[in-house]
Amino acid sequence: MKKQENKIYTQEHYQEMYNLSITDPNKFWGEAGKRLSWIKPYTKVKDTSFDLEDLHIKWFEDGTLNACYNAVDRHIEDGHGDNIAIIWESNFVNEENDESYKITYNELKKNVCRFANTLKDLGVRRGDIVTIYMPMVPETVYAMLACARIGAIHSVVFSGFSAESLSKRIVDTNSKIIITTDGSYRGDKVIDLKSIVDKALEMTPVTNKVLVCGRTNKPMSWNGERDIWYNSIAKYMSDECEIEEMHAEDPLFILYTSGSTGTPKGIMHTTGGYLVYASMTHEYAFDYKEGDIFWCTADIGWITGHSYLVYGPLTNGATTLIFEGVPNYPCCSRVWNICDKYGVNILYTAPTLLRILKKEGDFFVTNTSRSSLRVLGSVGEPMQADLWQWYNDVVGNNRCDIIDTWWQTEGGGIMISPLAGFKQSKAGSVSFPFFGINPYIVDNDGKPAPNGTEGNLVIKDSWPGQARTVYKNLERFKNGYFSTFKNFFFSGDGAYTDQDGYIHITGRVDDIINVSGHRVSTAGVEFALNSNPNVAESAVVGFPHEIKGTGLGAFVVMKSIDSITDFKATKNELKSWVRKKNGPTEVPDVIYIVEDLPKTRSGKIIRRILRKLAEDPKSELGDLSTLSNQDSIHKIIDILAQ
Ligand code: WTA
Repeated sequence: MKKQENKIYTQEHYQEMYNLSITDPNKFWGEAGKRLSWIKPYTKVKDTSFDLEDLHIKWFEDGTLNACYNAVDRHIEDGHGDNIAIIWESNFVNEENDESYKITYNELKKNVCRFANTLKDLGVRRGDIVTIYMPMVPETVYAMLACARIGAIHSVVFSGFSAESLSKRIVDTNSKIIITTDGSYRGDKVIDLKSIVDKALEMTPVTNKVLVCGRTNKPMSWNGERDIWYNSIAKYMSDECEIEEMHAEDPLFILYTSGSTGTPKGIMHTTGGYLVYASMTHEYAFDYKEGDIFWCTADIGWITGHSYLVYGPLTNGATTLIFEGVPNYPCCSRVWNICDKYGVNILYTAPTLLRILKKEGDFFVTNTSRSSLRVLGSVGEPMQADLWQWYNDVVGNNRCDIIDTWWQTEGGGIMISPLAGFKQSKAGSVSFPFFGINPYIVDNDGKPAPNGTEGNLVIKDSWPGQARTVYKNLERFKNGYFSTFKNFFFSGDGAYTDQDGYIHITGRVDDIINVSGHRVSTAGVEFALNSNPNVAESAVVGFPHEIKGTGLGAFVVMKSIDSITDFKATKNELKSWVRKKNGPTEVPDVIYIVEDLPKTRSGKIIRRILRKLAEDPKSELGDLSTLSNQDSIHKIIDILAQ
């Protein structure tokens, strides 16, 4: 079920395919599954139940395959070995001596095989869990695919995590080996990854091998009994390595995501269904065409990186671009310069990145060409209509498909999104469900919410990319996703459908705040604040309020803080603005005008910290190592103290 060349796809085609995927999933996915190369073809397609008493999720169960073979070898066998698999763009810009490089599928296979043989040499076997704590370099992809090749399960930990967070994840998987680099570059910063691993391992006695790849070549501490320099053994390894025949339901990877209780959840994905779903969404959502240069800016340590830097594009034989650095280094045109340098056709990024660049002014965009761009995607947070418009008008020159894609770690791939080329985009909306996704929007009693009314976004029935469990914790999987609404998967997000049937995501329902008995969506208040022409961005949190139970605290970043002469008046103006937009119950009780909001490296605002600070500026804030801008916290504390 690949897209046909030269066929113009329409909403009717979508509807026809979508209806089939819902009414006859066995037929639909039975056909779609053929996009992969199977060792033993499946005869069964779907065997799933969301019934708590009998929860099980199995796809293509009796088929066997190898994910690495699908992502690498088969393209070589099809005669595409000289096609570029990976473009690696270094952190640094140096026109005379550019260290960036490209890797063909032929080279990719050799590199992956050498890596796989190294892992085998170190004792890694089918079913073992390998922790990967690495930056945005091609070796990270080799490491992941090497695991897949030999049937090991990778657990990639985002390289911005602290030693403590890394340790928790290693302990949970009981992983005996960790792969890392000596360091990494991000903008003007050099990060000593190896020392973080050393610290993590002081707290983690289980790991006995650390495989270190070179990047910065700076001096580092070394434990001769435990640490292995990758190049010193890889050079002796063969660049041929047999693939391991895996069952469709064998685990491919574990990826940790934060849970409401604070302990990370090891979301587990399996091989067949995940790969079918990642590759099909990559082709259909982005309208991927052979020869396209595809760039996903997400870090490899998140699900977006897994599905759209690695498995989706490579399974489709695409060229995937990996950028080591940050979007505003050495200047705010970097992203657009990279698009021009390589002729990027499809860009997949996040609203935060767009907001950062938008804030700097259009000049940094308009002084570049961007003429190669055809599809512009977004993921991770709600993209308000004005940002959508900017992406469309300024970045895309009004001629690109804009696709705001909604999904989550648990979903494996894009779940609700316009399909580029199908003319389904609408500002502020994630549009329609992908094939096989049957979303319902329900009230708290599980009854369907009428159009226009916000409710809980739940999914009826399974799709192939769905996570199968929380590692070693099926109970947590059941309780977290299947116990709130009987026979539905609960996403944890709020959404509504507009009068034209387009779906709009309103934010996590766990961030809903009850103010004087009124349910107030923090995303809704932020939406109102952000729509003020003077506001750059905002975060709204609840804090204990004597009279209302919970009050609303708003942390607001103004576009130009320097031009404010009377802070009190500005805050009152903002309150009136929200009152006008959302009504009196949603007016923030307190507004703090701040310079910056605390964010993760992937750009998500960390409301947990703001919530604590709003409650008590002297709160113990816990681990701040995932913040991209720790300074912001100190400045906010100063403002709260005033
Ligand atoms: C949010 C990232 C609004 C949502 C792929 C979801 C979005 C969480 C969108 C998952 C979007 C993701 N619009 N919100 N287009 N995409 N989200 O697991 O709250 O890192 O539940 O997966 O991000 O984040 P995760």
